[in-house]
Amino acid sequence: MAAHITYDGQKQVFHLSNHFLSYLMQVDQHGLLQHLYFGKKIRKYHDERSYPGLDRGFSGNVPSLNVGEQPDRTYSKDMILQEYSGNQTGDYREAGSIIRSDIGSVTVDWRYKGYEIIEGKPNLTKLPQSYVESDDEATTLNITLEDSALKVDAVLTYTIYTDRPVITRSVKLMNKSSATYYLEKIASAQIDFPKQDMEVISLPGAHVRERQIERQKIKHGTYRFESRRGTSSHHMNPFIALVHPDTTEFQGEALGIQLVYSGNHLFSLSKDYIDQTRLIVGINDYDFSWQLKGNSEFQTPEVIMVYSHEGLNDMSNTFHHLLRERVARGKHRFSERPVVINNWEATFMDFDTGKLKSIIDKAAEVGVEMFVLDDGWFGHRDDDTSSLGDWYEYKNKFEDGLGGIAQYAHEKGLKFGLWFEPEMISRDSDLFEQHPDYALQVPDREMTLSRSQYVLDFSRTEVVNNIFQQMIKILDNISLDYVKWDMNRHLTEVWSNAYAPMRQGEIYHRYILGLYDLMERLVERYPNILWEGCSGGGGRFDAGILYYFPQTWTSDNTDAVARLKIQYGTSLAYPISSMTSHVSESPNQQTGRSTTIDMRGDVAMSGVFGYELNLDELPEDELDSVRQQIKFYKKHRKLIQFGKFVRLDSPFVHNTVSWAFISEDQKKVLLFNFKILSEAQPEISVTKLKGLKSDSDYIEPATSEIYGGDELMNIGLYDFPVQQRDFVSSVRYFEALQ
Ligand code: GLA
Repeated sequence: MAAHITYDGQKQVFHLSNHFLSYLMQVDQHGLLQHLYFGKKIRKYHDERSYPGLDRGFSGNVPSLNVGEQPDRTYSKDMILQEYSGNQTGDYREAGSIIRSDIGSVTVDWRYKGYEIIEGKPNLTKLPQSYVESDDEATTLNITLEDSALKVDAVLTYTIYTDRPVITRSVKLMNKSSATYYLEKIASAQIDFPKQDMEVISLPGAHVRERQIERQKIKHGTYRFESRRGTSSHHMNPFIALVHPDTTEFQGEALGIQLVYSGNHLFSLSKDYIDQTRLIVGINDYDFSWQLKGNSEFQTPEVIMVYSHEGLNDMSNTFHHLLRERVARGKHRFSERPVVINNWEATFMDFDTGKLKSIIDKAAEVGVEMFVLDDGWFGHRDDDTSSLGDWYEYKNKFEDGLGGIAQYAHEKGLKFGLWFEPEMISRDSDLFEQHPDYALQVPDREMTLSRSQYVLDFSRTEVVNNIFQQMIKILDNISLDYVKWDMNRHLTEVWSNAYAPMRQGEIYHRYILGLYDLMERLVERYPNILWEGCSGGGGRFDAGILYYFPQTWTSDNTDAVARLKIQYGTSLAYPISSMTSHVSESPNQQTGRSTTIDMRGDVAMSGVFGYELNLDELPEDELDSVRQQIKFYKKHRKLIQFGKFVRLDSPFVHNTVSWAFISEDQKKVLLFNFKILSEAQPEISVTKLKGLKSDSDYIEPATSEIYGGDELMNIGLYDFPVQQRDFVSSVRYFEALQ
């Protein structure tokens, strides 16, 4: 069924709906755009959300439109559920937008002006976004609000997908006056929820501990899930889910919200004095301001909202499809990703041609498909104190040049990939010597170092152009199949000598626009390259990056046990095809933990698979396991990378963890089970599969056992033969017989 957007002119109600959901809003008697409902599809609206007025103390009233008439004391913006709020006109909650006018006022008052409905989904210029491939995939509603004193319009854009439970939102501000204003806050979306029990799930973390699932009740006060680091960050992912207290992985309402943006973000949630909850999502207002000249516009990033009444797995599944199919672009979004060997944890920067060739030889022999040369191939980089910004090969490290390594890998039948960190500059670099002002800095202040490096001022086009020119020299001349794009520190001293003092609040956002511009130019010029994002592991794992690069390095933490949580948390919002995941050596370099090659393989195989260790140092039996793992992965990777991922048992709750990959036709099933710690008197747990065909029989080829789909889902399977040791894993494959 097609997506519908209807406007009831009499009631002034907008109704966005498809097979799954309805979104309702209404223009009221004061021209405010009220939020009515966002949830399961309803056929028709019959005024049950007409807002009950009440005279409440200390909540001001909206002046009557008729001069001399007393205002309606039962109507206050302080409690009306609004689609997009202004500032300082009686609504004391978090503002959706704050504009400083030419007289220094920050009052903003939005009233309805008009609407238009468009087939399809118009493009946002110069920003990442979800898209459609034909106009029948979505319908878009633009509602224009106006502040008549400022002469500024806010165009609220809502797109509803036809066959997905997805609505996207963004806002465009248009200054129609000739005055210059400053935007101090400009949310991409706001939702005001009526009183209800609600919990919020977020993905906080840290470097080497990304996207840990946290769930909490929303109480009074304001919660800010945000980044102030200049990137989306390891520390708080730009994603939240709002759920009912009873919602589980398989049942209950879940509203997932992602900001398609890689810079400072803010998801603020506040509960007001009558227990209504306001959500504001957008660019963080921290250190933000934007000069909006007369007759100019500002476009916010996009928010993706997914609705489910069937629990968190269903919500994630919708995100997985959308991000893979209509956010990621290019030929690799659907291509089976190669098995990689990366030299980082094997050699760090201490390599030469001999070492690299021996890694390639061994990798080719065990069935690896791509060799990635990580950090240390450029400038005179032997450690992390030099050469960022000098993207030409380090001649002394290569006998026959960098091109020689690429050629060698190709001759051995492997693809070849290279690491870059384009946004950075080392003090010890030619680039810094020639252009010290290219680094972000504030005059007469010390420059904060992090990992011995500075951040380039990507708000300046000439800086972005310099890096583009350097990169294309390598990309044009070396035969590359893959690029890993890293970003290994956060921003400080955010000031640019290219902008006037009053415009310094623009630099964080302009940095991101510069980054997107560079990425766009490169992915367009090299469509055959498989691009992977990275930021000290998964420090920039967001939908903005996925628009350019179909995969991201999930974490610098490659410990199998730590990865259970990291990958589980990441899967809440992002598809498996975007999560790269490698086997590294044991004991693990980040945690010191020892795990078997099987456990490490099983965890890494639950993503886009590869290795990050010295294969030469593995004993023969482990090498044999590696050969088996690669063979197994190649056979099943289509199912893993593009099948339906189902979370069954959470590492955030239990000592046992399980997940499954199920083909869209429900005929192929891979079940992964893990046990973390060994217990005396071990419990024996059962995993019940979900989403199979009840009336089909499934064979497990490894044992030739046959089970009914109904059995696998209702009786379930014991996890493993009891093993009295830590860190156990198993993988079982089932195939429908009919
Ligand atoms: C970051 C990445 C690692 C590796 C190093 C190289 O930490 O996440 O995978 O590329 O940089 O310096």
